Amino acid sequence: MATLANKRVLLGITGGIAAYKSATLLRLLQQAGAEVRIAMTAAATEFVAPLTFQALSGHPVHCDLLDPAAEAAMGHIALARWADAILVAPASADFLARLVHGEAPDLLAATCLASRCPLAVAPAMNQGMWSKAVTAENLDRLRARGIRVFGPAAGYQACGDIGEGRMEEPEVLAARLAELFASGALDGRKVVITAGPTREAIDPVRYLSNHSSGKMGYALAAAAADAGAAVVLISGPVALAVPERVRHIAVTSAVEMLDACLAEVADADVFIAAAAVADYRPRNAAAQKIKKSDATLTIELELNPDIVATVAALPQRPFVVGFAAETENLLDNARGKLARKGLDLVIANDVSAPGIGFGSDDNQVLVVSPLGPQRPPRLPKAQLARLLIDQIAQAMAGPAPDRSPSAERLA
Ligand code: C5P
Repeated sequence: MATLANKRVLLGITGGIAAYKSATLLRLLQQAGAEVRIAMTAAATEFVAPLTFQALSGHPVHCDLLDPAAEAAMGHIALARWADAILVAPASADFLARLVHGEAPDLLAATCLASRCPLAVAPAMNQGMWSKAVTAENLDRLRARGIRVFGPAAGYQACGDIGEGRMEEPEVLAARLAELFASGALDGRKVVITAGPTREAIDPVRYLSNHSSGKMGYALAAAAADAGAAVVLISGPVALAVPERVRHIAVTSAVEMLDACLAEVADADVFIAAAAVADYRPRNAAAQKIKKSDATLTIELELNPDIVATVAALPQRPFVVGFAAETENLLDNARGKLARKGLDLVIANDVSAPGIGFGSDDNQVLVVSPLGPQRPPRLPKAQLARLLIDQIAQAMAGPAPDRSPSAERLA
């Protein structure tokens, strides 16, 4: 079953009596693993107090577009960028009409307009309003723009009528939102991903390493699992939770990481090298702690194996994706790495740019393949990971010959 683990969901609430069910919906989204923030229209706050949702979500509720203090804390643009998905439930007839026309007079409508993430609406209105041609036309126009419409259901309505227009039940809404993330782009494929830093022992208590947080590799693992792949995440030491439905192999050094990769790639379809592997390791790690003595200490280093190049050179190999962390000449360096290491795709990022790269939550990358470069927008790593997984799936299905073991198996 699809989950919402590690997903950021903005739950929008508009003016309708079904707003009382949004408290249950919020709970269900949280139980499915999502981090949820709430935005309410003024009319919604007449039905249920924002304090209810603040207490349940653990965050202030976003209500006012023109409140400088609220906008300074997390403005509607930041909220739009934060969300992996927006679900407006209940969505009133009036709010749907606002969406159709691209109007943004309130914070929720402005956030929907500013967002790039999937948007779903759960219409809720009196059956008379629902049955009007203009409502159907509005919904058709929203669907044509890729907005998902969940429900409505039929039955008793708060106004005493019986008919279509009730908000879909919270259980159904939570399940349908989770399904949005299950793209199926890598159904039946095995994906092996390396992530995090490696640690190269100097002696039993000291090591050489780097600042890699592992966030991008872990986000790719979650996105690949969402896309239907069987995912193996081979990771150096990081402070991150292993995504759901991902098999995790903990390693420390580059040599251990290579061994784990070689044991896993034989039947893999995709190999993604997101780890920041130490280029060198101490030639002779001391068996005992090195004592402080002379003014200088010399440690001789030897080259580590290049894991991604080793995998790319295997006679029967998966589709191989490498990363390139650069501080200059992004495109040229990425192209060079593609050719030199024999990769199918390189994801390059400028680690000198502020707010992206090592340790940060956002990333902006250049995707370089033999078909040419592409630059997706700057995005939170989880959203970028989903986009990259889709691009990898497309590139695998593209004009280049499919060398993957499952293609062999199918042949
Ligand atoms: O050569 P450079 O370290 O810049 O290349 C980065 C890419 O190569 C990343 O995908 C990284 O995971 C991979 N790499 C590797 N083994 C190494 C060094 C880098 O797999 N020893």
